[in-house]
Amino acid sequence: DKANTFLSIKMRMPDDGPPSKKFKYTLQHKNNGNHVSDKLQQERRNLPIYPARGKIINQIQRLDTAILIGETGSGKTTQIPQYLLEANVNKNAIIAVTQPRRVAAITISQRVAEEQGTELGQKVGYCVRFEDVTSENTKIKYMTDGMLLREAILDPLMKRYSIVILDEAHERTIHTDVLFGVVKQAQSRRKAKGIRPLKILVMSATMDVDHFSAYFNAAPVLYLEGRQYPVQVFYAPEPQSDYTFSSIVTLFQIHRVEPPNKDVLMFLTGQEEIESAVKTIRDITRSTEENMAPLVVCPLYAALPSHAQLKVFKPTPRGCRKVIVATNIAETSVTIQGIKFVIDSGVVKAKVFNPNSGLDLLKVVRVSKAQALQRTGRAGRESAGSCYRLYTEQEFEQFSDSTVPEIQRCNLSSVVLQLLALGISDIVNFDFMDKPSTESIIAAVHQLHNLGAVVKETSIKLTPVGRKMAAFPLEPRLGKTLLIAKEHNCLEEILTIVSLLSVDSVIVTPQSKREEALAARQKFVSSEGDHVMLLNIYKAYKAVKGNREWCMENFINQRNMRTATEVRKQLHDICVRMDFPVKSCGNDSTTIRKCLAYGFFMNAAELQKDGSEYTSLSSRKTVSIHPSSVLFRCKPAYVIYNELVKTTKCYMRDLCVVDPDWLSEAAPAYFKKKKPGT
Ligand code: CDP
Ligand code: MG
Repeated sequence: DKANTFLSIKMRMPDDGPPSKKFKYTLQHKNNGNHVSDKLQQERRNLPIYPARGKIINQIQRLDTAILIGETGSGKTTQIPQYLLEANVNKNAIIAVTQPRRVAAITISQRVAEEQGTELGQKVGYCVRFEDVTSENTKIKYMTDGMLLREAILDPLMKRYSIVILDEAHERTIHTDVLFGVVKQAQSRRKAKGIRPLKILVMSATMDVDHFSAYFNAAPVLYLEGRQYPVQVFYAPEPQSDYTFSSIVTLFQIHRVEPPNKDVLMFLTGQEEIESAVKTIRDITRSTEENMAPLVVCPLYAALPSHAQLKVFKPTPRGCRKVIVATNIAETSVTIQGIKFVIDSGVVKAKVFNPNSGLDLLKVVRVSKAQALQRTGRAGRESAGSCYRLYTEQEFEQFSDSTVPEIQRCNLSSVVLQLLALGISDIVNFDFMDKPSTESIIAAVHQLHNLGAVVKETSIKLTPVGRKMAAFPLEPRLGKTLLIAKEHNCLEEILTIVSLLSVDSVIVTPQSKREEALAARQKFVSSEGDHVMLLNIYKAYKAVKGNREWCMENFINQRNMRTATEVRKQLHDICVRMDFPVKSCGNDSTTIRKCLAYGFFMNAAELQKDGSEYTSLSSRKTVSIHPSSVLFRCKPAYVIYNELVKTTKCYMRDLCVVDPDWLSEAAPAYFKKKKPGT
């Protein structure tokens, strides 16, 4: 029956048998007497990368810059830093390993600390925004690309590092792309000044590396032999209108005919879609009369709490089948064992720049051929597998070859602010691997200008306001909101709101207890919008000292609440360091809303005349209130929002009711052309 639905096409062929065991090395462990399990060491030696260990060390000893390519799961991220440390290629200095995702930085450093037999934060540590788990002893430091970029503002030569590993380079996040230029510059400046050389290692899971090599002055490319087994690729016979539905149908087709313990990895796009698919799958399993093996259904997305993420890595019980419903996080960042089948929706949620408004929009878009290939590869890690593509072969041919780098499709205002803070003012001529368009740079400068962060003289310069904004690890509009709050004596409240906006949602709405959750939320709800509600929640949480039962009863995510408290403390420290008085406005929520309006005037919308939808003041496009907002049924005349999400409609999230006069006060020049209320 599978042949009826799918056409069979052979993909790339395999495998030269098991990796050669020719090279044997003894791992040197200076683990301070800590026990390192034999099992872990055996696992390290079994990785595909292990036979190449000596060669890799030799090459990196010799080269200033190298590019390393290897399949996902071969051991690049966990092993290379350890090899370099064990051979002291780092000359006792720190090895930085950048990751696009904070989840990856945290989980991988945990694993590597275990393999080194040390406590996390000692020899091996990690550093992500608002969290630094390193010490003086740290030699391998996993960090987000954004963190290394922030560090470079204070230390452009990156003096504390002898090796910088730019990992997952194929993802081409905006921060990785800027780091390429910053690290390259640090390397050549250190050489010119006779400071200890900086080695750069770029690691990627995809083969299209000529571009990387050319950019890094023809750096040599080291290829790791992978263990890729053949994967049969099946295409949909005709275009599918509902990929979630098709994914679930395909899952049950597989589940009916295939023996258990052959797990399935399904690629969808985001948290809500994944949770709803997980629920549907569970409902079907529960209600079916058919005699099927039990299904273990695991969601996997970046915002999932880490204990739930770990469930994905647990071995599947005998006689069951595990199905992992994941975002593109499972493409290359994490490796899951036991996958035999991949179901590829062919779509991904990506940030897309909207040149009209100068803002980013989260939107579901087609994957590239390179991404589709990565997804397919996940089915052939341990033995031959199958991949079901929920699109036709003709559709696949239309996919772009590789993903457009984020820097060419996102709002650049954060990056431009950071580059200016790094002392790089000629942004158009910065050494980008792929240049963003001049228009998008101009749009970013405009936006910063509207926020009062830059002035345009002979060149573009940061203003004192801009310099202060750059001191906060926040996007420019949030940074500006803090500065305004200082003027209005309500930093106490705005710090709380900004912190809560910087973490994953503290509000939990389980599908199964929806009514109960909404009822519990009533006491925090505010007709002034989501921000005021968040503030109410935080105050109530503090009043009960973060009590666990209280969080459960009120459907508040305690972990995210703690993170927000930690974030708040750090932002508070920065305020103190900058001599900002942290004052409270008490219960004056009007002042709070005014500050938000002053910071987010570019994200304002007005209710349309017929009272059904909103019009964005900057782009004049139709936008709607997201159903999760407390304002969903209120429909105030004017709102500002923090984020736009495009699914069936273009939705505004995190909304606040504002007075249109505040908007024109905030930026008279900006609203001259598009005056609110006209
Ligand atoms: O970076 P690359 O994709 O080449 O591989 P890696 O992330 O270094 O992973 C190598 C192996 O370590 C994989 O087979 C994973 O199963 C394992 N690993 C793990 O068991 N737990 C982690 N937290 C990370 C990796
Ligand atoms: Mg990796």
